[in-house]
Amino acid sequence: MKFLPALLFVTLAVQEPTFVNARVVDKRQTTIDVNAFMNKQTFISWVGLYRNVGNSGDYARNVDPGGVIASPSMSNPDYYYQWIRDSALVFKVILNQLISGNSSVEVHLKNYVAESNKLQHTPNPSGDYYSGGLGEPKFQVNGTAFTGSWGITKDIPQLDGPALRAIVLIEYANTLLDRGGDTRYVTNNLYQAVLPYNTVIKADLEYVSHNWHVDNFDLWEEVNAQHFFTLMVQRRALLAGAELVDRLSDGGAATWYRQQADAIGGVLPRFWSSSKNFLQATLNQSNRQSLDCGTLLGSLHGNGKRGWGIFPPESDEVLATLDALVNVFKSLYPINSNGAPGVAIGRYPEDTYDGTGTSVANPWYLCTFTTAEIVYNVVKRYEDVGYITVGAKSLNFFQRFLPSATSGATYASGSANFNIIVNGMLQFADDQMGRAAYHTPDTGSLSEQYSRDNGFQKGARDLTWSYASFLTTAWARSGNVAF
Ligand code: NOJ
Ligand code: NOJ
Repeated sequence: MKFLPALLFVTLAVQEPTFVNARVVDKRQTTIDVNAFMNKQTFISWVGLYRNVGNSGDYARNVDPGGVIASPSMSNPDYYYQWIRDSALVFKVILNQLISGNSSVEVHLKNYVAESNKLQHTPNPSGDYYSGGLGEPKFQVNGTAFTGSWGITKDIPQLDGPALRAIVLIEYANTLLDRGGDTRYVTNNLYQAVLPYNTVIKADLEYVSHNWHVDNFDLWEEVNAQHFFTLMVQRRALLAGAELVDRLSDGGAATWYRQQADAIGGVLPRFWSSSKNFLQATLNQSNRQSLDCGTLLGSLHGNGKRGWGIFPPESDEVLATLDALVNVFKSLYPINSNGAPGVAIGRYPEDTYDGTGTSVANPWYLCTFTTAEIVYNVVKRYEDVGYITVGAKSLNFFQRFLPSATSGATYASGSANFNIIVNGMLQFADDQMGRAAYHTPDTGSLSEQYSRDNGFQKGARDLTWSYASFLTTAWARSGNVAF
């Protein structure tokens, strides 16, 4: 990105007590070099991600090929399972690597297709292949069903998983078709135009298109209702699916998927609250504001590089929501006043999941990265279109960088105000990465959470999704937004 060179260093002004002993490093002298962190952490994140991918990864030798463990942690908490959601988000990164020219990773994608087919056919507490089993969020590492007791979420489907898996596999099918010569693999394994369905993508699209309106658990596996994140990724899966199906001449299905996607598009605007001035994660929650990082994730994964036409990162509503999230977490977590750059971000302010049980919740690496990823995406968009328009809802966000910004103003590329906003936004995003860097140990290991009080790691260690989220953020920072 053009403006990056100005942003090499983020200087800390740490307000912790200083030490009289001169040999103790005074952290106010510490400088976080965000570029150096990004480089080092990119390498470490690739290693960390692949270590959890079956069955070649060091931590995943006993995992099915194409299966991904959420974390190698087997107790406190036990995350040694494959979650449909986490796996899809990890394979999104692996597929993006393939699309960027690394053909050596293709074996993993083929394994993922086979494992997805196996999990779809595994009868589980949510049902079987034709009766709801596709909504099951979590399986054993050898592909058998998870039947143990597990809080409130057991037996209740989570409808984001099949949509995320479809988004990844549709992109893979398109990649294969573009390449030519792989049509038979696609129609045998990924999408065959028959009912009852018998291929992975068709199964997920049928499931999503017939069930999206049903209440289901959110991405955090806690609330049974309709969710912004889930609807965003369902809509994208159906629209992308309709395009694939057009290529494969299944016209009737394309029409049905588009109709359902349009219906979802009609529901999504209800998540905007004009009184709160943010997009709510879930409607009608009495015990939460519904200000939630999952909303930002819904914007990212429901749009991606190309954009699918509703609530993209650069929309007025998403920027307003990001602004509100940063404000709420800034004052909620004690570490946010320690003088390190940026703001540590968690899932949602009322959260009580501390990584192993319930007490007080903490910031998450992937949520902190997501605030940066959104902003890097938006800057890329501004550079592409050549102007910034300040919306009424996101005015506070823009005034962080340009206090004189006014609602409705347009700043063209090359103007002083355009540069001030873009540079300010890149600094903001780099500060978010600097914040994560500040709480990352030298080994580069990324757990799920880090303590709200002292920044040390909490929860599942080496969370695969933390690495995946870092990598998509690093791509966005270099202007190469993931699909
Ligand atoms: C409770 C947490 O709140 C939820 O988000 C998580 O998915 C489950 N425990 C399983 O770890
Ligand atoms: C808890 C998170 O809430 C959920 O989103 C995730 O799928 C699981 N942990 C596994 O990482």
